[in-house]
Amino acid sequence: MKILGICGSPRKGNTEWLMRELMRATEKRGGKTELITLKDKNIKICDGCLSCEKTSACHIKDEMQETYNKILSADAVVLGSPTYMDAPTSLAMNFIHRMYPLYGKIKGKRFASVVVGQVGGQEGITSRGKVEDYFKAIAGLFELDHVGSLSVAARDPNDASKITDIEEQCENLATKILNQS
Ligand SMILES: Cc1cc2nc3c(=O)[nH]c(=O)nc-3n(C[C@H](O)[C@H](O)[C@H](O)COP(=O)(O)O)c2cc1C
Repeated sequence: MKILGICGSPRKGNTEWLMRELMRATEKRGGKTELITLKDKNIKICDGCLSCEKTSACHIKDEMQETYNKILSADAVVLGSPTYMDAPTSLAMNFIHRMYPLYGKIKGKRFASVVVGQVGGQEGITSRGKVEDYFKAIAGLFELDHVGSLSVAARDPNDASKITDIEEQCENLATKILNQS
C-alpha cells in the first residue's frame, strides 16, 4: 500500500515531526510511504482560471504536476497542517485548491489528517477541531474514504514530541490508514 504524506507547515516543527512519526509507524506495518513538505516545493497559487473543470488538468507548470501523479498512484493520502487563525495554513489551503483538477478522479482513496494547534480544550470547540472538521469535509467533497485523524495540542517546535502517548497515537492512526486492527 502506497501512502503519500503532505505536510502544510511553513516550518520544520510539530506537524512535520508528527507526519514523519506517522510515516515511520506506517512503514513498520508494511506501507510504502513518501512525505512531501509543501514549504520545499514550488507550487504556485491557484489562479482561479477554472480551465481544470473542462480539461481535468492544471495549466500551471510547476511541482504540483508531479504531485498530481503521486496522488493518483497513492492508495492513501495524509494531509497535515497547523492551525492558523482557525484555519489550515495558506500552504495547505493552496494545495487543496490546486487539487481541483483531481475532482472525481480519486474517489475511494483512503484519507487521514494531522492537525496541530496551540489551543487546548474539548474536541469540537477548539479551532484545531475546526481544521479537522474542514479536512473531513474536503475528504467528503472528493469522495475519499476518511479513515481517521490526529489532533495535537502543540505550539513551539518539539512540543508534540514531549506528549507521553504520542507514539501510540501515531501507531493507532497508522493501523487505520492500513486498515489493520
Ligand atoms: C499566524 C499563526 C496563527 C496561528 N493561529 C492559531 C489558531 O488560530 N489556533 C491555534 O490553536 N493555534 C494557532 N497558531 C499556533 C500554531 O498552530 C502552533 O504553533 C502549531 O504548533 C504550529 O505547527 P508547526 O509546529 O508544525 O509549525 C498560530 C500560529 C501562527 C504562526
